[in-house]
Amino acid sequence: MDPNVRPETMERITTPELAQAFIDEQVAAVKEQVGDKKVLLALSGGVDSSVVAALLIKAIGDQLVCVHVNHGLLRKGEPEQVIQVFKEELGANLIYVDAVDRFLDKLAGVDDPETKRKIIGGEFIDVFAEEAAKLEGIEFLGQGTIYPDILESKDGIKAHHNVGGMPEEFDFELVEPVKLLYKDEVRVVGKQLGLPDNMVYRQPFPGPGLGVRCVGAITRDRLEAVREADAIVREEIGKMSPAPWQYFVAIPDVKSTGIKDGKRYMGWAAVIRAIHTVDAVTAKSVEIPWDMLCIIRDRIIAEVPGINRVLWDFSDKPVATIEWE
Ligand code: XMP
Repeated sequence: MDPNVRPETMERITTPELAQAFIDEQVAAVKEQVGDKKVLLALSGGVDSSVVAALLIKAIGDQLVCVHVNHGLLRKGEPEQVIQVFKEELGANLIYVDAVDRFLDKLAGVDDPETKRKIIGGEFIDVFAEEAAKLEGIEFLGQGTIYPDILESKDGIKAHHNVGGMPEEFDFELVEPVKLLYKDEVRVVGKQLGLPDNMVYRQPFPGPGLGVRCVGAITRDRLEAVREADAIVREEIGKMSPAPWQYFVAIPDVKSTGIKDGKRYMGWAAVIRAIHTVDAVTAKSVEIPWDMLCIIRDRIIAEVPGINRVLWDFSDKPVATIEWE
């Protein structure tokens, strides 16, 4: 039986009971696979790596070493939440790496989107490899691979970062306890493991993070503006029921004229985007109620330094992609 093929008899995990049965089964399997050895896991705070971390902590406790790399491109409050949930509440063996300066220095002046992505991805691997080299006795690498990653890699749709994406110098055996699960099942398992709702039901977030929403060459001040405006938009649009599939803010590298306290105020425009999609291949703009738009506009203008305009990008995909870069 191919371990990368989901058996047809495998029941879809939709209830706490089914999630618990899956957890019990995987805890036993991981114990069996790992024995008394150590597992290393890159913990981004996204749904998949968080669920794998919680599962592995249950199975092997402090034989799991989690590394959280803060590259400065995470959303507001995310690094803090990873530390709070995993280190404080679950007692994880967590190494927090503050690599903010390192990433932002490398990205300074780079405005080409693909070059930005390559720098972020490459630097991430470097930081992670450096941390791994400092540790002794690691034999396994935990990964948050899920079933769509395997299917898409097989079909040649995309070379997913979770499937064979780690460099060859990582001579580790993989531990991938959720690799046969679909995203909705990963969320049910995460909830059963006691992870907070805002972690388990988190909207999709690109690997290069806010880097692709700080459009053009990233500067620290505009990146902070993206982070603050994004937090406001997530809070306000998150009140819609149902919430859109993905909603965020992008800030292009353009300043326009404004007026503040009787003086000329050159500022950036914060662009709001809210879309609905099934597979992210096509997407429809979601209608945001006018009253909500006004609240968002007023809050961003009042609370985010450097912004003097708020725009709504209501383009569909195609022709616009979901992200601006
Ligand atoms: P686009 O902009 O291509 O986005 O319409 C489709 C979906 O993919 C996410 N996205 C990324 N995810 N690494 C990721 O892990 C990336 O470089 C990346 N670029 C876009 C995007 O947020 C949307 O959900």
